[in-house]
Amino acid sequence: MTKLIDGRAIADKVYIDLRREVAELKAKGVTPGLAVILVGDNPASRAYVRSKDRMCRELGLHSMKLELPASTTQIDLLARVEELNRDSSIHGILVQSPPPAHIDEAAIVRALAPHKDVDGFHPENVARLVLEDPSGFVPCTPLGVQRLLLETGVEISGAHVVVLGRSMIVGKPLALLLMQKNKNGNATVTVVHSRSGNLAQTTRSADIVIAAIGRAEFLRADHIREGAVVVDVGINRVHDRLSERGYRLVGDVAFEEVSKKTSAITPVPGGVGPMTIAMLMANTVKAAKQSL
Ligand code: GUN
Repeated sequence: MTKLIDGRAIADKVYIDLRREVAELKAKGVTPGLAVILVGDNPASRAYVRSKDRMCRELGLHSMKLELPASTTQIDLLARVEELNRDSSIHGILVQSPPPAHIDEAAIVRALAPHKDVDGFHPENVARLVLEDPSGFVPCTPLGVQRLLLETGVEISGAHVVVLGRSMIVGKPLALLLMQKNKNGNATVTVVHSRSGNLAQTTRSADIVIAAIGRAEFLRADHIREGAVVVDVGINRVHDRLSERGYRLVGDVAFEEVSKKTSAITPVPGGVGPMTIAMLMANTVKAAKQSL
């Protein structure tokens, strides 16, 4: 029997600690504040931004949600970011990705004050991750995946972890995080992607497979060995006539067949997703603490 990793339950454990930390900060006169900027009206992004805002409120954080029209210019957006950089009630700033095509996302990320970059996308925070400097911000999804594994009791240290996908948001930072020289890392990490040869041969040699390739049900049973741990980072909308919304959410893992072989696996939804938001809250609290 495979163990179903319950991301919501583990996120709830994270929130117990965070509530205490928020209370301590408030006692010192600091309310952690998060600003989330959404440009345009991508429905999935809208849903994410709404959950982030809701979770801030539940934890007693100061939440600022800026919903800007798709016509917002690069200059307007830069001005908003600079305003938030100067706003002392805001400790974390997140610009929801992907922005509309006319926005130069890399330039926006570079404009963020690194000490408010709770996404961990600014080059200074990427460097801190590579340098294993714990004062930096690590992207939320990789942090959430690491925490899920640790809380589930999966041994990362010494394991062969295969990360499927090389994105700046998940694959690359996750590989860096899990190979760090500390007790929560120490993994042997292999990164495979859409152009890798012998992909199945590589994933079959893994103790832990983390799928973040952005393709619905890409990882099949013959990609993994018996007893492997599988973490599914994917959230894909697939057309479904029978569903009320007209679509359903599936991960990057063909759950039905893969779960017959795993020792532990995350579901979609209810696996990595809740952990990403929990780590965003944790990074915001960390930013507020560092502001003291
Ligand atoms: N879009 C999908 N995931 C993320 C994330 O972690 N941060 C931001 N800013 N945008 C995203």
